[in-house]
Amino acid sequence: MRKKILAANWKMNLTQPEVDAWLHTIQGFALNNDAALLRVYPSAIYLKDFQNTNLHFGAQNIFYETRGAFTGELSVAQLKSVGCQSALIGHSERREIFHESDTQIALKVQACANADFSFILCCGEPLAIREVGTQEKYVIGQLQKNLENLSLAQLDLLVVAYEPIWAIGKGVIANLDQINEMHQAIRNFLVDKYDKAGEEVPILYGGSVSPANAAAIFSCPAVDGALVGGAALDASSFYQLWQALNA
Ligand code: PGA
Repeated sequence: MRKKILAANWKMNLTQPEVDAWLHTIQGFALNNDAALLRVYPSAIYLKDFQNTNLHFGAQNIFYETRGAFTGELSVAQLKSVGCQSALIGHSERREIFHESDTQIALKVQACANADFSFILCCGEPLAIREVGTQEKYVIGQLQKNLENLSLAQLDLLVVAYEPIWAIGKGVIANLDQINEMHQAIRNFLVDKYDKAGEEVPILYGGSVSPANAAAIFSCPAVDGALVGGAALDASSFYQLWQALNA
């Protein structure tokens, strides 16, 4: 059985008092970690605030070198040393705004794999690609390049998040057929590349997931959870998503 995962990507949001309040609220809820795994990806300055919680927390980004003169960057070893358990890699905002290339993302995957560090690899097509109907070729192309350095033995570190760029932060989700089709295409790619072990990789959906649409999204057999931005900034609405995933 694949593990279900609900992940909060806070992006560049929340101040220290807001983080304190979020943690206070979420810890007031009954979170049974045997069920869906809850993960939080806060801004790096707040990572240490999670050390004394039982929450899985990780970094929104990593750099692929192990140490040295890379101003502003964080290595996997540094993140691990403060208790981080995973990272996001290749979010579309990193790819688009910060011009991260598939080659750089493949190096980040390799850095995680070398350090036995779990990661969520994000993929997804822009609207222009969806409009011409080549989204599967585009997304599978991203995965082919990004996973070039991940071996079968390292596959249990991988979670994939499919996030159509046109649905991120827009209040519009992809429809359920679009989600199922792409998740199935990703699954086929993983099984082609990694054989039966490819069946075990969780595939999350991301893009405007909210308490209003979560039940429908989680009812898709090909969806193993979600990567959530906006609706994860409020601890109560994030908890509602967690309840929907466990329903
Ligand atoms: P959103 O963001 O839920 O605000 O659309 C999702 C993401 O970018 O991971």
